Amino acid sequence: MAQSIEGKTAYVTGAGRGIGRAAALELAREGVHVGMIARTESALEKVAEEARSFGVNASIAIADISNLEQVETAIGMLKNELGPADILINNAGIGTYGPFLEIDPEEWKRTFEVNVFGTYHVTRTVLPQLIEKNGGDIITISSSSGLKGTAKSTAYSGSKFAVQGTMEALMQEVRKNNIRVITLNPSLVATEMTFGEELEKSDKEKYMQPEDLAEHMVSLLKLHPRIFIKQSLQWATNPF
Ligand SMILES: NC(=O)c1ccc[n+]([C@@H]2O[C@H](COP(=O)([O-])OP(=O)(O)OC[C@H]3O[C@@H](n4cnc5c(N)ncnc54)[C@H](OP(=O)(O)O)[C@@H]3O)[C@@H](O)[C@H]2O)c1
Repeated sequence: MAQSIEGKTAYVTGAGRGIGRAAALELAREGVHVGMIARTESALEKVAEEARSFGVNASIAIADISNLEQVETAIGMLKNELGPADILINNAGIGTYGPFLEIDPEEWKRTFEVNVFGTYHVTRTVLPQLIEKNGGDIITISSSSGLKGTAKSTAYSGSKFAVQGTMEALMQEVRKNNIRVITLNPSLVATEMTFGEELEKSDKEKYMQPEDLAEHMVSLLKLHPRIFIKQSLQWATNPF
């Protein structure tokens, strides 16, 4: 690989479970110090303890990313404890599904507040740290639904298309600061978001696992800083 990421610092949102947890632990395994954000303290504490077992520093901060003030306080805490970020993993998000006319308007709005405004709040707060360093990486987890709409996913798809466009535009803006803005677009990944309480019973050989995405993120981060894959789409090989 072209560069080692050992000793860097990453902030990961939604690190309490699923893809965010796997990303934080895979980064810790690579020697990256991790700062983690979500709303549930107990879940974050457990992941932080696991991360520290790889010999890195791990800090947690509680925030609902849809609230800018909470995000600013949380990022401030992580910066004090770990130092400024080299890597931001914009992962926290929620899924909302149902026929267009049946989704509660408040739930529709909330999907945008978390997925779009939440991602914006975190990026807006962390970006100055990367600009100051004149380099760094922002990986955002959009979705295959952010590239193609499907029936009953108006809120989720709409929000992920917005994330996609925002990150594409930001990518063009901050390349000149040596900041690589990367968007991942996974299809179904086996997490609580998709399988709920049935997660443990799901077929691990058949469905993409959070660890698969985490390994992909690390491989993207290890590319020589002169190159980046601006967008990638992950599919399960044979989920049928
Ligand atoms: N699973 C899939 O098939 C799939 C496919 C494509 C894209 N994605 C995207 O991948 C990302 C992670 O999904 P996942 O499947 O790992 O979901 P998950 O298992 O439900 O985990 C979501 C994480 O985000 C945190 N979170 C949710 N709302 C938050 C908020 N308002 N503020 C702060 N943290 C919040 C959750 O913690 P708290 O509840 O404690 O806050 C949790 O740690 C999401 O953006 C999702 O849209 C998932």
